[in-house]
Amino acid sequence: MVSTTGSARPRAFDIKDPSLAADGRRRIDWAAREMPVLRQIREQFARERPLAGIRMSVCAHVTTETANLALTLQAGGADAVICASNPLSTQDDVAAALVEEGLPVYAIKGEDNETYQRHIRAVVEHGPQIVIDDGADVIAYLHTERKDLLPGIIGGTEETTTGVIRHRALEKAGLLAFPIVAVNDADTKHFFDNRYGTGPSTIDGILRATNLLLAGKVAVVAGYGWCGKGIAMRLRGMGARVIVTEIDPVRALEAAMDGFAVMSMDRAAALGDLFVTATGNINVIDRVHFEQMKDGAILANSGHFNAEVNLTALEEMSGEGRRTLRPFVEEYLLGPDQRLIVLGEGRLINLAAAEGHPASVMDMSFANQALAAGYLVEHGKDLEPKVYSVPEAIDREIARLKLQAMGIEIDQLTAEQERYLNSWEG
Ligand code: ADE
Repeated sequence: MVSTTGSARPRAFDIKDPSLAADGRRRIDWAAREMPVLRQIREQFARERPLAGIRMSVCAHVTTETANLALTLQAGGADAVICASNPLSTQDDVAAALVEEGLPVYAIKGEDNETYQRHIRAVVEHGPQIVIDDGADVIAYLHTERKDLLPGIIGGTEETTTGVIRHRALEKAGLLAFPIVAVNDADTKHFFDNRYGTGPSTIDGILRATNLLLAGKVAVVAGYGWCGKGIAMRLRGMGARVIVTEIDPVRALEAAMDGFAVMSMDRAAALGDLFVTATGNINVIDRVHFEQMKDGAILANSGHFNAEVNLTALEEMSGEGRRTLRPFVEEYLLGPDQRLIVLGEGRLINLAAAEGHPASVMDMSFANQALAAGYLVEHGKDLEPKVYSVPEAIDREIARLKLQAMGIEIDQLTAEQERYLNSWEG
């Protein structure tokens, strides 16, 4: 589709319905109220235009929070185009509102895989100087199919744990062509977004899809990374009896000492009423586990890719015995007495059936994204093709601004304390 609205020149985009823009605009403004840090950066960007004329390809969940990031980049002068980072996470009204603001969007909720890939190709066609990625699909595509564009890229940023793992693998293989800032690894990102965002938003997705009562249910959480910690903590808060499964001995110990039952998935499979995966790995719940599960067990994923629950095996096991019970709720009939329920096609349930993390945590994640993009424009040419952390000064400044916005004051070291901390004599 081609539009002439909202921008000087006709620009292509591909969204569901431009007439949804007014609804999207209202919801974007609603999210903005909870994003004071990003708002300050947007004001600063509007004054200083640090991204003036920079072509940016953004691959992200097209939500109200992402819209506020996109408008911040635009205020900084960026020429940004956006595609979805997941076929099920797009909010169509938000996509429409962004197009009206002159930001080309390629994203439609429920798009098939072929459309999803076409949208990635469309944003890459923009010839980015900066890439903002969420899961590394754009950067993987650039490194395989569009190597011709690599020399023009100053750098990229990555939003997720999964994406950072892929970028590190690319670096280890000696193939990474430009510097990547691992936004996920900033303290003001993963401590808050991954934990305090994933916990409630995952539960929100499960509840919106099912209207399930969690109190008294046995919930199995696979993975005790930052996302798994958040999910387990909030499921317990809703009254579920939570079991954690892990492959890492330290994390397993941590889960045990946080008071969760810890066991292998082989044992947990028969016990769970609800399973939630957050490992970043494949086939964490597999054929052997399905075979043992209770009738009616519910499976949801909160990891980036829909690979954590082995759906291919489940489809083979159920044959034709499969039906949709309600939106995002699919039943697989494995035998006369065994029905398993998969939510949101095994895609991240918080964005498929709900709206993703609350704006207040995305405020910090996207403040990191915006400032990391500015940092790359300023310093990218001096960086090597490696995975970098967000500079500590940016991370701490975001925490300071967030505290300020929350009206929280903290102490400062006295000169005496500073001296004490810097001395070895005692
Ligand atoms: N990832 C998780 N929640 C999100 C949100 N609300 N917006 C964009 N990306 C997200």
